[in-house]
Amino acid sequence: MIILGIETSCDETSASIVRDGCEVLSNVVATSLKDHQKFGGIIPEIASRRQLEYIQIVVAEALKTAGVSLPDLDAVAVTGKPGLIGSLLVGISFANALSFALKKPLIPVNHIHAHLYANYLVERGSPSPKKIFKNLSLPAVGLVVSGGHSSLFYLKDFRSFRVIGETRDDAAGEAYDKVARILDLGYPGGPVIDRLARSVEKGALKFGCATLPGTPDFSFSGIKTAVLYYTQKHGQDKDFSKARVARAFQDGVVDVLVEKAFDVCRARKAKTLLIGGGVAANSVLRERLLARAQKEGVRVNVPSLAFCMDNAAMVAGFAYQIRSAVHI
Ligand code: KG4
Ligand code: ZN
Repeated sequence: MIILGIETSCDETSASIVRDGCEVLSNVVATSLKDHQKFGGIIPEIASRRQLEYIQIVVAEALKTAGVSLPDLDAVAVTGKPGLIGSLLVGISFANALSFALKKPLIPVNHIHAHLYANYLVERGSPSPKKIFKNLSLPAVGLVVSGGHSSLFYLKDFRSFRVIGETRDDAAGEAYDKVARILDLGYPGGPVIDRLARSVEKGALKFGCATLPGTPDFSFSGIKTAVLYYTQKHGQDKDFSKARVARAFQDGVVDVLVEKAFDVCRARKAKTLLIGGGVAANSVLRERLLARAQKEGVRVNVPSLAFCMDNAAMVAGFAYQIRSAVHI
């Protein structure tokens, strides 16, 4: 089954062709990130105008790269929610029109659920693409950490995602972006803080997240404020180091994500942990989760970097799993 996926929930315009829910034949991504950088965050009006400019080009490129033509498609999938309304509308309208013209089913998918599904995607030509479903069998715990969301899910199957914990204030990626702004490191904050933090050893400076004991919920606004106050007080000191602040901040965030994810796996007796979202690209988070997995007796997969960021392959792949909801 060949599905075209379309993702336009924020500043990325992406189209992808995925075979049988896992084999990615193409995944094309255009982004308007550069247009937003000078504002220090995404400007929804600019994002949706760029979506309009890019959508047709990106879909055509995804079909061409995959060597697939429109009549070969079995269905069209699109991110339905959540996201910026103007950006979402571009993808939804385009997918709707295409599905109507081709007389092929339209499958709307949830962006956050699709981020977790990214764990099941493999590159084209992978020798046994479906092995991934055996390796990462459900039920599973899912950790989604992005610019807008930080949630823990329990997945009984691909149709049932239960939220069991979420942030009570900022999302993890939002905290990265705000700390980067405090340290004047540009937008988005995640990749630059990740790099900077790796350049120094662990030191005496520590920033902790509120742990909210006994709950699977997160809180990231306190650690961001701690970085702000520390920088206001010490930013002009001779030995002030942005790298050391980045390191202490990142350690604090990763500690709480790793502990809570495995706490929930233990409580739910889940043997698979899926991670997804932009912050899942974080090098230390990936290392720490993989390092703990064996000790915890939990299978952890970290999606490739391209599938952590917003992409349409996760949309097309996930649509395959929920397709019977639209009678394909
Ligand atoms: O999933 P995503 O591409 O878009 C949303 O749905 O939000 O996530 C973007 C977020 C940004 O906040 C960005 O700073 C963060 O992911 N991010 C990272 C890294 N790469 C991107 N955070 C930590 N470490 C990274 N390496
Ligand atoms: Zn996302």
